[in-house]
Amino acid sequence: MNNQFIHRRTKLAENLQSGIAVIPTAKEVIRNKDAHFPYRFDSYFHYLTGFGEPESVIVIIGGKTPSSILFCRGKNKEKEIWNGFRHGPEAAKNLLHCDEAYSIDEIDQILPQLIENKDTIYTPLGIDVSWDQQIMGWLNQTRSRVREGIAAPEGLIDVRGMLDEMRLFKDPSELDTMRQAAKISAEAHVLAMTATKPGKYEYAIEAEFLYHFKKNGSQFPAYTSIVAGGKNACVLHYIENNAVLNDGDLLLIDAGCELNGYASDITRTFPVNGKFSGPQKAIYELVLAAQSAAIDATSAGNSWQAPHDAATKVLAQGFIDLKLCHGSLDKVLENREYFRYYMHRTGHWLGMDVHDVGNYKIDGEWRALEPGMALTIEPGCYISSAPDIPEQFWNIGIRIEDDAVVRKDKGCEIITSGAPKTISDIESLMSN
Ligand code: GLY
Ligand code: MN
Ligand code: MN
Repeated sequence: MNNQFIHRRTKLAENLQSGIAVIPTAKEVIRNKDAHFPYRFDSYFHYLTGFGEPESVIVIIGGKTPSSILFCRGKNKEKEIWNGFRHGPEAAKNLLHCDEAYSIDEIDQILPQLIENKDTIYTPLGIDVSWDQQIMGWLNQTRSRVREGIAAPEGLIDVRGMLDEMRLFKDPSELDTMRQAAKISAEAHVLAMTATKPGKYEYAIEAEFLYHFKKNGSQFPAYTSIVAGGKNACVLHYIENNAVLNDGDLLLIDAGCELNGYASDITRTFPVNGKFSGPQKAIYELVLAAQSAAIDATSAGNSWQAPHDAATKVLAQGFIDLKLCHGSLDKVLENREYFRYYMHRTGHWLGMDVHDVGNYKIDGEWRALEPGMALTIEPGCYISSAPDIPEQFWNIGIRIEDDAVVRKDKGCEIITSGAPKTISDIESLMSN
């Protein structure tokens, strides 16, 4: 096992000082009757362990002699026949380089002892009621022993604050995985462009993604794919993906795979018949120019807000030029008149979660971009039909989304560039 997990646990232990962190993985979730959703571990737990089995908890003790203690499923011959291999505490302890490991069945006895005389428990709070109750139960068990001279923790702090800040800065192993996930997703977008024809259905194009993701080792899509033909592209979170694709319409696809716990997130928009119309071209070129300005603004030392401001400025001027907005650039920006067509932000952190963790502001100010941060750059334009809007632009929805990593020096690395996005590249790919 790569030691980045040990490194992360050590770093967390340093931050804990005389506290103790208790972090469970995700629960298995029933889909219906006795069928489960495919299992996906908790991102925080996995960040610290790399361990994929459900019913696991990692305990990290801070202080002078930091240590890691794992609780996981015990070996069980019968259950392994039905549901497959489980490591059991002994093997898991060696695999993860933990100091101790126990069966999860023992946690109610052992955990109250582990928190004895610690000043603070750090744990995810308010996500899962039954976990909150379990923590309270262990805390009360320890409290009930005060007459034996045992002190119960007085502090209960959400551990996510510390971990979010760690997760925001990607290490080389994380970046390798993210590049690989981005590559698979970009290839799938190429396949989708070549597979799209008028008369096909959105779900048939979605299937190209699912097939390519799985075939290349991705475990899941990182989020439900958006495959939105024509006016469906103006519904930002459209996921029905069940309409026919019409000649003359655009197709917006926002789809990315998850690989070994890391998300990719790409949007491309292209013509169903392979040729952009004049009005489609005008809006597309505008969104592409906005994205290019945002990419240029994505550089260490710039504010998180800089790419958004750069994209918004280009879009606002374009809306004025195309008579979608009226008046001066300053007025359109100040009154947020562009918001009618561009109503979302230009990006978000990207990592284990597609909308990844990490604060965007520090002390009320947008934070500065720093090397190793990963984010999306995804301006768009969504025009519904309305009497005051030139009819040639009705129902055009375009977004162009890439994944970027802030470089050490100037600028950013675009890790999704395998998916074509200039009009000439898209048209030439689709004509072959
Ligand atoms: N796919 C989700 C997003 O672009 O934010
Ligand atoms: Mn995104
Ligand atoms: Mn997206």
